[in-house]
Amino acid sequence: MVDTTEIVKEIQEKYKIIGRTEELKQIVLAHSVGKNILIEGEVGVGKTTLAKAVAAYFDSDFYRIDCSEETLTHNLVGYFDPPLVIAKGYVEDTYVQGPLVRAMLEGGCLFINEINRMPESTQNELLTVLDEGILEIPKLKTIHAHEDFFVIATQNPSAHVGVTVLGEALIDRFVWIKLNYQNPEEEILIIKQEANLSNGNVDKIAKISQNIIQKTRESTSIRRGSSIRGAIDMAALISQYGNDNSSKNWIESAVMSLYNKIELEDGLTQSKKEIITNIVLAVLNKSDF
Ligand SMILES: Nc1ncnc2c1ncn2[C@@H]1O[C@H](COP(=O)(O)OP(=O)(O)O)[C@@H](O)[C@H]1O
Ligand SMILES: [Mg+2]
Repeated sequence: MVDTTEIVKEIQEKYKIIGRTEELKQIVLAHSVGKNILIEGEVGVGKTTLAKAVAAYFDSDFYRIDCSEETLTHNLVGYFDPPLVIAKGYVEDTYVQGPLVRAMLEGGCLFINEINRMPESTQNELLTVLDEGILEIPKLKTIHAHEDFFVIATQNPSAHVGVTVLGEALIDRFVWIKLNYQNPEEEILIIKQEANLSNGNVDKIAKISQNIIQKTRESTSIRRGSSIRGAIDMAALISQYGNDNSSKNWIESAVMSLYNKIELEDGLTQSKKEIITNIVLAVLNKSDF
C-alpha cells in the first residue's frame, strides 16, 4: 500500500497545484497499480497540469502527443525514413521513433492529449501496448515496455458537440478519472497564482474575474462557458490598468479574454460582445467585492 496522502501533499506543494486532493489521489493510486489513466474534463480544468505534475513527481520523462483526426500511426509509433531505408535497409538506424516507442523504451509517461480525436486505426495500435506493454514494429522488432512506462490520456466530455466517442476496445483498457470545475475559492487562488497579480487590488480582481467566468458557465445563452484560462487572462489584463478598474476597462479585458473561449447557443439576437458586456456589468453591480 502506498501512502497517497503524503504523496499528494508533496505533489501539491512542489508543483503548485491548488486543491485536487481527491483527483490526485486517484491518479497516484492508478499509477501505483500500473493502470492506464484516462482523465476526462472540460478545457482548462487542469488535465495537463495534473498529468505533468504526477509524471515529474515520479521522475518520468514526458512524451506528449496532441491528437487530431490526422494523427496517424507514424505520428504515434514512428516510421522508417525512406532515403535511409534505401541506403541501409529496415534496421534500427533507419527507424524514427515516435513518442510511443520512446516512452516505452525509456520508461517515461506517454501523454495522449484528446485521445478521442485519434482515428480508430491509430487507436488500434495502442491495444496490445495498453494490455501487455508489447508493441510490434513490422520489419524491425517487438518492443517490450520498460517497467516504468505508463500512459495518461485525456478527453473532453463525450457529451460535447463534435467530440467523437472513444472506441469501446480502447476505453475498456483505461481507468477513468473525472475533473469537474473547481470551487470558486480554489479558482480564485489559481487565478492569483497564474495571473501573477501584483499591483492593484489583487483579491478583488481575482474574485471578479472568477465570478465573470462562472456566469458564462451558468448563462442560458452560452453553450460552452469559459475555462479558468479566461479568468487568468482577464485578471492579468485588468491589473495592467493600475487603479483604473472602470467598467469600460473590465469590459475590454473581458471581451479580449473570453471572446474565443465561449460558444453561444444558436439563434440568439444578441452578439457575443453584448452578452459578455451584460455579464460583466451584472457582476460589477453586485456590491460584495
Ligand atoms: N488545480 C490547479 N492548480 C494550479 N493551477 C491550475 C490548476 N488547474 C488548472 N490550473 C491552471 O489553469 C490553466 C489550465 O490548465 P491545463 O492543465 O492546461 O488545463 P487542460 O489541460 O485541462 O486544458 C493552466 O495555467 C494551469 O496552470
Ligand atoms: Mg491540456
